[in-house]
Amino acid sequence: MTPLLSVQNLRVGFPTRSGLFQAVRGVSFDLGRERLGVVGESGSGKSMTGRAILGLVRPPGRVTADRLDLDGEPILNLPESRMRRLRGARISMVMQDPKFSLNPVMTVGRQIAEGYRLHTGTSRAQARAKALEMLAAVQIHDPERVFDAYPHEVSGGMGQRVMIAMMLAPDPQVLIADEPTSALDVSVRNEVLRILDRLVSARGMGLIFISHDLNLVAQFCDRVLIMYAGRVVEELPARDLHAAKHPYTQGLLDSLPRLDRPVERLATLQRQAGWRDAPEEGTP
Ligand SMILES: Nc1ncnc2c1ncn2[C@@H]1O[C@H](COP(=O)(O)OP(=O)(O)O)[C@@H](O)[C@H]1O
Ligand SMILES: [Mg+2]
Repeated sequence: MTPLLSVQNLRVGFPTRSGLFQAVRGVSFDLGRERLGVVGESGSGKSMTGRAILGLVRPPGRVTADRLDLDGEPILNLPESRMRRLRGARISMVMQDPKFSLNPVMTVGRQIAEGYRLHTGTSRAQARAKALEMLAAVQIHDPERVFDAYPHEVSGGMGQRVMIAMMLAPDPQVLIADEPTSALDVSVRNEVLRILDRLVSARGMGLIFISHDLNLVAQFCDRVLIMYAGRVVEELPARDLHAAKHPYTQGLLDSLPRLDRPVERLATLQRQAGWRDAPEEGTP
């Protein structure tokens, strides 16, 4: 079966005065109709991997890959006009902070409706109905009121759900969610996770769930990639995360606070030079 997304040896580099800085150094994975977690400390290349897949790395950043296929179709270095048609319609990304992704001078309902119209060419009335339906689908209880609100008039949690509604209206095959819940309180967070979960099981969407929260990913995802310094250092089923083999993953787990095993001080990760040069050149 063709994977929804197939990534082979993805690399992102930025030229600097002291040479090429490689933010992503040969990431490979296939995504099916599943919840794939991507974890790793800040700066390990998680967001850049997502941006590269969507063609959102701006020059002078450079993206290369041996393969980057969406449902069997190569999407690496497509002309921007073609990429713009795919982005939002067939593959979408929910960014970490909705404030940077929503247009501040347009009501949230209009943003969802216009985005939907752009990709589907439906009438204004149909797009409005779709936007209201999507707002309700992300558990916004008074969609009519929220439709007419400006981004600054909604809470952070609601803004994040509005973003998800906007990304999901055209029914993409793949959604990349970059720390979609890290700014939310626990009850809103669980709500958002339930929504994403339903989309994977009901619509057969593929979800890449980027997070630095290993416990959350262990509970929510099917499979997890662990990133370190721009590489995938380990891949394993989410339920086995706590039995991770790689010392970096074990270090990440040890540095998590645990209610059942309080410690005086959290362990700090002792990095080793060898981790940067994981044996898996290419396939993890
Ligand atoms: N525009 C840029 N130019 C150069 N380096 C960048 C740029 N954006 C991000 N980086 C670097 O790329 C690395 C990976 O960043 P990122 O993917 O955002 O990490 P993560 O999401 O895992 O925290 C970091 O070292 C970051 O400093
Ligand atoms: Mg990030």
